[in-house]
Amino acid sequence: MSSLWPGRKGPGVRYITAEPSLEWQQKKRRSLVILGSTGSIGRSALDIVRANPDAFRISGLACARSVNRLAEQAAIYRPDYLAVLDTEAADALKKLLPAGCTPEILVGQEGYRTLASLPEADTVLSSQAGTAGLAGTLAAALAGKVICLANKESLVQAGDLLRHVCGKTGASILPVDSEHFALFDCLSGREDDATALILTASGGPFRGRSAAELEDVTPAQALKHPNWNMGAKITIDSATLMNKALELIEACQLYGLSPDRVQVLVHPQSIVHSLVLFKDAGMLAQLAMPDMRLPIGNCLLWPRVEKSHIAPLSLARIGSLTFSEVDNAVFPAIDLARKAMQVRSGMSIVLNAADEAAVQLFLDGRCSFPDITRSVAAAMEHHLMGIRAGGRSEQTPFCLSESMLALEGTALAEACWQMLGTMDALQEETAAFVRSFVQDGTAC
Ligand SMILES: NC(=O)c1ccc[n+]([C@@H]2O[C@H](COP(=O)([O-])OP(=O)(O)OC[C@H]3O[C@@H](n4cnc5c(N)ncnc54)[C@H](OP(=O)(O)O)[C@@H]3O)[C@@H](O)[C@H]2O)c1
Repeated sequence: MSSLWPGRKGPGVRYITAEPSLEWQQKKRRSLVILGSTGSIGRSALDIVRANPDAFRISGLACARSVNRLAEQAAIYRPDYLAVLDTEAADALKKLLPAGCTPEILVGQEGYRTLASLPEADTVLSSQAGTAGLAGTLAAALAGKVICLANKESLVQAGDLLRHVCGKTGASILPVDSEHFALFDCLSGREDDATALILTASGGPFRGRSAAELEDVTPAQALKHPNWNMGAKITIDSATLMNKALELIEACQLYGLSPDRVQVLVHPQSIVHSLVLFKDAGMLAQLAMPDMRLPIGNCLLWPRVEKSHIAPLSLARIGSLTFSEVDNAVFPAIDLARKAMQVRSGMSIVLNAADEAAVQLFLDGRCSFPDITRSVAAAMEHHLMGIRAGGRSEQTPFCLSESMLALEGTALAEACWQMLGTMDALQEETAAFVRSFVQDGTAC
């Protein structure tokens, strides 16, 4: 059994939550909710469910507006609940469901929160895209669920809050992100000896290019990831290396480490999913073909490990694995993440929100590729100026106050949702800043 979980004292990592209960671990059949079931992660998770039909019952599935795909999934898995973004999507969904398939259809943020906290569900896969995923993760944490967490933005925005809430409710987090699952695997049992975590990055489709060569790249070029098949937002983030920046913050939050103990190494083959450096100068790495079904399956089935259909690695055929430093001058995202972690005071929220807004502008053809990280840097500077001037941002309660630490039950939940409302306001303010920054021509 892993000793990664909290309770042990030592210089090593301080994992974010306690271990899932023995009752959950021994459950023959887990009752699963998938938030974001129509996305890349959600569909891979349903592959795992299909391959292990006795291990899961699907209680709920959710998407934003891909109702055709959601209706197909509902027809196969027969969940009791579905959730969609708005009433228009709900009306369209009702017409698509086959005869005899009559799940309750929930709508909007309230619907996602209800789904994430269903009493009959014990496991929630949080795999909605971007900032929107936090509410579902938080609802699952407040309800004491085992959370298989793909939505890295949840930890980027509210890692401290989730650590606290899970501590109060007994919820657990298992890391679905491939790098963080690799670290989880390598750390187990040796966490007290770990001195550094090393995240690998493919470098994306523009690895090796100069800053000038990035000015004219198109969304179509940026959407062609060399190794992974993922949703649009994370694919663009992989091209700017902002995905690795978010993952650096995610790793610090998951493993309770300061950013100086998390390094990034470019590894174009995406075979080594991450490494841990130990105090004896030895390293452990997890190697596998780049296929998200490995970490998703291991989290959903944890601590069981089942035979998978992923092609075994043939190192002889691959021949060579290469590694190099990140070119931070051309790809400044990781430096921005380190800066955000130093400042705290909502800076990670600003980094994440600015990136999300800028990626959308890039995909819409309204700004250039380098404008994405330029906009993030400008939004962070703007936020810092607000803090220095003693403006609104400094007073916004993103840090857990003494009074909040003492709360339990409904009072804790109310305080959490209030904090989320404050985060939403900062996100909207940041997105508006990015849009005007790009539109004013300052960035373009
Ligand atoms: N893909 C990967 O390999 C990978 C690896 C590691 C971590 N992750 C993380 O996993 C999460 C999902 O990534 P993905 O690649 O699976 O994304 P994706 O393919 O774009 O799918 C996103 C899912 O979220 C739903 N969604 C989108 N906007 C929403 C909103 N505003 N409210 C509620 N639901 C919404 C989508 O529904 P519709 O289909 O209706 O739009 C879809 O079901 C992200 O946080 C990503 O960083 C992904």
